[in-house]
Amino acid sequence: MEKQLESLKLAFSEELNLAGAPEDLEPMRVKYLGRKGALTGILRQMGSLDPEERPRIGSLSNELKVFMEEALAKKLEGLQTHSVFKGIDVTLPGRAPRKGSIHIINQVVRELEDIFLSLGFNIASGPEVEDDYHNFEALNIPEHHPARDMQDTFYFTSDVLLRTHTSPVQIRVMESSGLPVRIIAPGKVYRCDSDVSHTPMFHQIEGLWVEEGITFRHLKGVLNEFIRKLFGPDIPLRFRPSFFPFTEPSAEVDMGCIICKGKGCRVCKNSGWLEILGCGMVDPEVYKYVDIDPETVTGFAFGLGVERVAMLKYGIDDIRMFFENDLRFLKQFS
Ligand code: DAH
Repeated sequence: MEKQLESLKLAFSEELNLAGAPEDLEPMRVKYLGRKGALTGILRQMGSLDPEERPRIGSLSNELKVFMEEALAKKLEGLQTHSVFKGIDVTLPGRAPRKGSIHIINQVVRELEDIFLSLGFNIASGPEVEDDYHNFEALNIPEHHPARDMQDTFYFTSDVLLRTHTSPVQIRVMESSGLPVRIIAPGKVYRCDSDVSHTPMFHQIEGLWVEEGITFRHLKGVLNEFIRKLFGPDIPLRFRPSFFPFTEPSAEVDMGCIICKGKGCRVCKNSGWLEILGCGMVDPEVYKYVDIDPETVTGFAFGLGVERVAMLKYGIDDIRMFFENDLRFLKQFS
């Protein structure tokens, strides 16, 4: 009988393990502890036992009864708590939280900053809401100058505007810090313009190096180094004479087309060259506005469009993609 009790306990325990819902427990209670249940069945055979054996078997059966009752109660409690999660498989892995990433334009800005930092430049900044003086006048763009029409300006008042380029930072830096100046100024600029190659807000990086003895050769050296660090060592550069009111002489810089390697393609309009930035030697007129003596120092400046660099680098043909915030586009750069 002792053996019977033991195997009953085993069968009960196994079945209880498998029980997955509170409703499974009542049938088990009936099956093992009920009036016609398994334990009662065993106790019925007590009569056939040796009278000396009875007390021991009696107490063993009693222990088993208490064990089963307690186990059922405990299991019920467990199943009831778990039923809060009914329909939820708590063993499934959770959903990973979505991680943000640095916007493609800011990634490119940082890359450009790193290159210029490695060339000994510091990083400067200025306000996006500018006054006419810094955005135009001190850059040798007087009122009624045609260069003001080239840049469709957003005005707040006749004197306050959204800067149309990062060049006003040149003036602010020369006003406030002593010489020499060797800075780049990355930032947002604004123009009332919108199509596949223009957005009303875009990014520029301004460069300015003013120090005794700076010549056009320094300008060429810095820009060559910059383009090679950015696009690779074999990219040729070409300086075309141009005009900007704040530089003299001025140049526009083209680099060999990185798409067709100079053979001619749709991106470079079959010329083999891509226009990449504007630059020149700081016009002595500009120094007058910031109290620098053009007889003692010279300098160069340049300005480039960040979106243009990003479009070339990643083969993107519509500038508006950068600012539509379509995650399918942005995720490709995370
Ligand atoms: N400010 C010019 C623009 O927005 C770009 C530029 C050209 C900046 C020549 C310069 C420069 O510093 O030297 O179109």
